[in-house]
Amino acid sequence: MNESVQAVNEKGLNGTLTVPGDKSISHRAVMFGAIAEGITTVEGFLPGEDCLSTISCFQKLGVTIEQNGDKVEIEGKGYEGLQEPQDILDVGNSGTTTRLMMGILATLPFHSVIIGDESIAKRPMSRVTNPLREMGAQIDGRDNGNLTPISIRGGHTKGISYQSKVASAQVKSCILLAGLQSEGETSVTEPHRSRDHTERMLSAFGVPVKRDGLTTSVRGGQTLTAQHIVVPGDISSAAFLLVAGSIVPNSKITLENVGVNPTRTGIIDVLQQMGARLEISNQRIVNDEPVADLTISTSELQGIEISGDIIPRLIDEIPVIALLATQATGTTVIKDAEELKVKETNRIDTVVSQLKKLGASIEATDDGMIIHGKTELHGANVSSFGDHRIGMAMAIAGCITKGQVTIENSDAIAVSYPNFFEHLRTLQQ
Ligand code: S3P
Repeated sequence: MNESVQAVNEKGLNGTLTVPGDKSISHRAVMFGAIAEGITTVEGFLPGEDCLSTISCFQKLGVTIEQNGDKVEIEGKGYEGLQEPQDILDVGNSGTTTRLMMGILATLPFHSVIIGDESIAKRPMSRVTNPLREMGAQIDGRDNGNLTPISIRGGHTKGISYQSKVASAQVKSCILLAGLQSEGETSVTEPHRSRDHTERMLSAFGVPVKRDGLTTSVRGGQTLTAQHIVVPGDISSAAFLLVAGSIVPNSKITLENVGVNPTRTGIIDVLQQMGARLEISNQRIVNDEPVADLTISTSELQGIEISGDIIPRLIDEIPVIALLATQATGTTVIKDAEELKVKETNRIDTVVSQLKKLGASIEATDDGMIIHGKTELHGANVSSFGDHRIGMAMAIAGCITKGQVTIENSDAIAVSYPNFFEHLRTLQQ
């Protein structure tokens, strides 16, 4: 499907919205509910394609799960409730489903096969299959277990002390999930802190989680107890509207109930450092996750350098931050972001090539990109390349271009923000 976006009129983007539930937290609520004892209920669940893939995989593993919009009920019967699937487990476009589910499957005494879409088939899995093999799981797949389709026969696993080369919550969570059912202690040390939803939610399900600097540990033989989980709005989805509100003239947008876990708020730091008019209000804690309302208004922006520790805190927001930087005066340099190359697309290539089509002054580097602002962007035909965040970044660009932006393969946006275009229209009066 193609979708075209025209520049917003002189009234700007205005209004109050609640963005859909957090993708990372929604996946975890279903998975942890599936291995817990008792009925886990979830509200604010993200009914996007990625999280629906998680539900369908766990249903194939024998877990009864009812989903109705943003409400989900999972009938957990502990690990014994999971059985050898009769069918292949299809993860669609979801890296989180693939990697976290492998951590659970690695400890279960049966065989399963995982496949996904074209994008999943290119994403590196040895970052999880290597440590899981070290723990004792039998795993095979293309490229010696690096690429899907991947087959796993789990079983008796032993805890490890794992030093991860990448700051990845998927790697950390996969190994910790395997650790819950392994002999002894399992610990993961990461080079920079990645999002910590797994640690927070495992504690809520009754699992003691030890954190010491960049090292996180769990002990084997754990039982999880069913919970009621309230999922906050996804800051990674909010990011698109925060950028829209700051670059579209005469705008003021309030986003209510956004998750502001400090491991995810790099976008807030960047907006503030660039000089955006951003207010954070009504800060509170829901289910051990910080939540707030965010109000953004049209802003004068300055280019900045974005590198180091902040990168894992905004890795998914870089496509839209690159757009933001085209509207900032001066140069923005994004460094230390090699991980962009192994996301749903190679996001260094897709961001740079598609923003160039709109007239941006942007160049790719080995570990990021350099953007010179401020430039007036023009309309063009672009593509999401099947990557939801590229599709949304292009749609937000279309709000300020002279001439319309037509996005090929805009359906990909349903992976994380099914009602994105409806929300964008609601803000235009
Ligand atoms: C996620 C972790 C991040 C992020 C992805 C969701 C998670 O991936 O990019 O969208 O839910 O754990 P990495 O672990 O590969 O950095």
